[in-house]
Amino acid sequence: MELNRRTVIAGAAAAGMAATAFGGTAHATGGRKPVKELFGKLADGTKVYRWSLENGGTRMKVLSYGGIVQALEIPDSRGRYRNVSLGFDNLDDYVASSPYFGALIGRYGNRIAKGRFTLDGKDHQLSVNDGDNSLHGGAQGFDKRVWDVEPFSQGSDVGLRLYYTGVDGEMGYPGTLRSKVTYTLTRDGDWRIDYEATTDKATVVNLTSHVYWNLAGEGSGSIYDHELSIAASRYTPVDSGLIPTGELAKVAGTPFDFRRSKAIGRDIRVAHQQLLYGKGIDHNWALDKGITSTPEHVATLRDPSSGRTLKIATTEPGLQFYSGNFLDGTLVGTGGSVYRQGDALCLETQHFPDSPNQPSFPSTVLRPGQTYRTTTVHSFGA
Ligand code: GLA
Repeated sequence: MELNRRTVIAGAAAAGMAATAFGGTAHATGGRKPVKELFGKLADGTKVYRWSLENGGTRMKVLSYGGIVQALEIPDSRGRYRNVSLGFDNLDDYVASSPYFGALIGRYGNRIAKGRFTLDGKDHQLSVNDGDNSLHGGAQGFDKRVWDVEPFSQGSDVGLRLYYTGVDGEMGYPGTLRSKVTYTLTRDGDWRIDYEATTDKATVVNLTSHVYWNLAGEGSGSIYDHELSIAASRYTPVDSGLIPTGELAKVAGTPFDFRRSKAIGRDIRVAHQQLLYGKGIDHNWALDKGITSTPEHVATLRDPSSGRTLKIATTEPGLQFYSGNFLDGTLVGTGGSVYRQGDALCLETQHFPDSPNQPSFPSTVLRPGQTYRTTTVHSFGA
């Protein structure tokens, strides 16, 4: 049974249980004006700020570098808060070696084969940073850029507006792309992301967020016991370089069938060719609902040990589910623990990987005069 979130949080606050790294609990249920502090400096002296915001019992810390969600704290049913997203406690680690922890991804989420595509008869060569392929926007994607951040508090919502302009030719992409991403915490503690972009030349765009979730708390061990459901009857199988073959394969009868909630670890060791290619799950689900004008529910994640839940709704047609396969015990996270394979998972709402080279996939082309708009909502419960 799911308890009413605000009741739980109010109860926990009354019992004095809500104090955390966020310091103080003045209004555990109410919106708190985003607070800014210096987080660090880049090698060229650019200052990076960290914003703390809180509403409806959800607490977030966001960096101006990469729009990174550095921490996201939510309570369990007894009001015990944990940071449920992987990250680092310092800027240098993000710059040196982050596997996109918590970051905004652009200009193109996931892979483009050989970093090449043709648009309106013109060939483009992108920055190649993943074997032969371009991953997450290339070597210096939006995750490694400093965004302009503007806090807001509107009605019962609080949030941040993040702005970044990618110049024409950056990482090989045509067109000046002006992006605006809005992070909103609602009075119910939902985290909503609204992505917008415009361009001055035809280009391709696929923005997403790369939070690594562990609902038991970052650094607490593996997510293989988390239960997940995904409203998708098909997924996009890949080749050995994790580029979609173009097929929309049925999930029925495969380890990729999450139409009914199941533990992530249940089938992850099945000797299925696709799991061998991904070193686990690293695939895009073609959501049954397709592209929608308003966000529709597509996935539910639940940690049985804490009871915490995450529900995802999106306007996007795809969901990349990545089971943290490349975490290899070499990174030390926010809480001081080492992250190992399977210690978190990502659920990246998106258009399909390599769409610029796959005529049968929904288009990722954006033209001058058009506005790119997508929305994803994360709802937390316990
Ligand atoms: C995405 C990709 C993965 C991996 C991670 C980051 O989820 O699909 O293959 O690159 O990002 O490590």
